[in-house]
Amino acid sequence: MLPWKAGRIGDHIRDVQTPALVLERGHFERNMDRLMQSVGALRVRPHAKSHKCPEIARQQIARGAVGICCQKLSEAAVFAAEGIENILVTNQVVGAQKCQTAAQLAQRIQLGVLVDDRLQIEQLAHAMKQLPAPNPRCMDIYVEVEVGGARCGAMPGAVLALVTLIRHHPTLRFAGLHCYNGAAQHKRTPSERQSAVDQVAFIAEQTIGLLKRAGIEVPCITGGGTGTFAMDCARGVMTEVQPGSYIFMDADYRRNELWLKDPVFDQALFVLTSVISRSHEGFVVVDAGLKASSVDSGLPEVWRNPDLLYKQASDEHGVVQARSGQSPRLGATLKLIPGHCDPTVNLYDDLLVIDKDHVVDVWPIAARGACL
Ligand SMILES: Cc1ncc(COP(=O)(O)O)c(C=O)c1O
Repeated sequence: MLPWKAGRIGDHIRDVQTPALVLERGHFERNMDRLMQSVGALRVRPHAKSHKCPEIARQQIARGAVGICCQKLSEAAVFAAEGIENILVTNQVVGAQKCQTAAQLAQRIQLGVLVDDRLQIEQLAHAMKQLPAPNPRCMDIYVEVEVGGARCGAMPGAVLALVTLIRHHPTLRFAGLHCYNGAAQHKRTPSERQSAVDQVAFIAEQTIGLLKRAGIEVPCITGGGTGTFAMDCARGVMTEVQPGSYIFMDADYRRNELWLKDPVFDQALFVLTSVISRSHEGFVVVDAGLKASSVDSGLPEVWRNPDLLYKQASDEHGVVQARSGQSPRLGATLKLIPGHCDPTVNLYDDLLVIDKDHVVDVWPIAARGACL
């Protein structure tokens, strides 16, 4: 019979079928603890797009997170079905069908979504009006502000009109400002990240000021990922941070130089791969290519083996060069650090949880592929 599951509880790691996605339990738990210790009084709403795994969301909430972020409505629906009751979809929801789905979901959980345009607000309000219940539960609406990421987000001068429109609709609640700069997270030096954080804070403060002068209080300012959340906390404008990758880490994040107050997060996520061919001198071929480890932020790295360089990925093959010329044997298992954790996790059905070289749990990545 073919081993459809890479591993089962009780398996020794050497018996796990590859490629497989594995999580070192001790490092993962320490990463969660370090985040909570480093945010002080700020609220934490970890981004679940990194793990897409309800069991991890439950553990984050058990450690004090107020809820989770999702990037897509279909992702949020999976977590809601698994009992997660407070979800912010950090994205714009556009179109009648999606707004209807959002309105229905908002009746079951505390749901927040982002807007940066009048039309999104009108569409959401219309969907809420169509609900059969006479007194529907409100949907939380956050205005996304363009804070330097050059992605979504309204210009600060446009925010007051959007907030006024939200407040005009009784089924929508103005819940705060979304001020996230994705481009800032991977700036390599602390001083580059600090400038980006200062810019986010400056624009957020300007926007809060504009709203205050119109008599509107801002209940929440949310943003910040693994790269900047510690600086965001220290800067003092955010009231909530939303890091995602910190639980796992990846080769790209490991290239960031740390700031003195940045906690050190351990590498907890690995792709296990095996050497399947060694007919050339100087390099071997492993069974993890780009369908086993994402390459959008750079190639994977071989864990704790500087002699081995993962040089090239094709769909199902990876070329690993031995700098010394001493290639690993056929069947040898290597641990790869994924280049980028989020899209790597999205490639797998399950996460094998490892403790003391044994599989101690298997967690479904229930929202993998949920991109609607
Ligand atoms: C809106 C938003 N918040 C938070 C995050 C979490 O970022 P990270 O995984 O870098 O911590 C992301 C990631 O892309 C994001 O898009």
